[in-house]
Amino acid sequence: MAKLTVKDVNLRDKRVFVRVDYNVPMEEKDGKMAITDLTRVRETILTLDHLVQNGAKIVLASHLGRPNGKREPAMSLRPVAEALADLLGRPVAFVDDCIGEKVEKTAGILKPGDMLLLENLRFYPEEEANDPIFAEKLAKLAEAYVNDAFGAAHRAHASTEGVPRVIKRRGGPCAAGLLMERELKFLGDELDNPAHPFVVIIGGAKVSDKIKVIDRLIEKADTILIGGAMAYTFKLAQGLKVGKSLVEPDKVDVANAAISKAKQRGVQFLLPVDNVIATPVNTGKLNKKGKPVFDWQNPRVNSAPNIPDDAEGFDIGPDTARKYSEVIRGAKMILWNGPMGMFEDPRFSEGTLAVAKAVAEATRKNGAKSILGGGDTVTAINQAGLNEEVTCMSSGGGCSLECLEGAVLPGVAALSDK
Ligand code: 3PG
Ligand code: MG
Repeated sequence: MAKLTVKDVNLRDKRVFVRVDYNVPMEEKDGKMAITDLTRVRETILTLDHLVQNGAKIVLASHLGRPNGKREPAMSLRPVAEALADLLGRPVAFVDDCIGEKVEKTAGILKPGDMLLLENLRFYPEEEANDPIFAEKLAKLAEAYVNDAFGAAHRAHASTEGVPRVIKRRGGPCAAGLLMERELKFLGDELDNPAHPFVVIIGGAKVSDKIKVIDRLIEKADTILIGGAMAYTFKLAQGLKVGKSLVEPDKVDVANAAISKAKQRGVQFLLPVDNVIATPVNTGKLNKKGKPVFDWQNPRVNSAPNIPDDAEGFDIGPDTARKYSEVIRGAKMILWNGPMGMFEDPRFSEGTLAVAKAVAEATRKNGAKSILGGGDTVTAINQAGLNEEVTCMSSGGGCSLECLEGAVLPGVAALSDK
């Protein structure tokens, strides 16, 4: 990577503004907000240990949720400070603001190895607006900058773009953290020069979300496997009937273009040959968002090319799962983004589970490098209990997609060059 990393700079006795992505899922429990998954906090520990060992004074900053520039008590980072202190076995101070005199004073008395977590940056609208005055106020807290918030690197916000700009102007170093470095290595460099056979597995709901990734990876991959609801748009593009399945009729041309491009380049482009379908029945109830709740009745395998008019597809079928698994087991490099079906429901989880097992097996037995991106894919591999068996799980959802598209990430571009 052509950017400075924490390993390249001497941060001893320096106050360092460390942007992390502590946008963790939370749930209200007994009137208090509780963190339901600490993965994102855990993933920054390597960087924090490195900074502590090297005597940096650490000012941690993050967003949490989308409070739209207002103070939302339910989106306070205070519980994260407590959880982090538990994980590290050392104190983590917390201030209930991210700029101003009180914050400056607390940051000013930090000693080497001390840690302070600031309150949610997005309590100020200036954060998302990348307001230069707000960035100056944040930058006042430190002499150096580290970005370990890969999950937010696709955002050009004050804490990801504005602050490093100020610190660089002052001659201070702006470096990538170890998590950031690792993500960019796998989602960037490794995929740019993949080992072969390179198998790309793309699932999820929409063609429109993933088409740029598909388009770019057709140029690198040997085989592309398509699953999830987006497969129904590809089916539709081939003139087949998809019943009540989720589709994007306006993306049929885009789907056909991807198929043609793959053909031209000699890339194997596989679509499901069978599906698990069910009949949606309106329960008459409404969900929290006021949308009707459906019951999926009579789940069954459909091996015919067309899906019946009254049915909806929810997973790849057993023949597809077998075929995809076989291809995956022969791979030396695997990228997986997006589940094969509605795996949250055990009736529709077999396809995703089969793919997860094949990815783990290829990694273990075939020495394949397996890279997973996207929140749902990570949830699926965790659910399968196979998370330890893959090479790299990305901590970024939207950001991992943008990275795979080959987009310039503002949070990375803002760092100092090596
Ligand atoms: C994420 O969870 O994807 C990141 O933390 C970015 O959050 P955002 O989509 O609200 O910017
Ligand atoms: Mg998001």
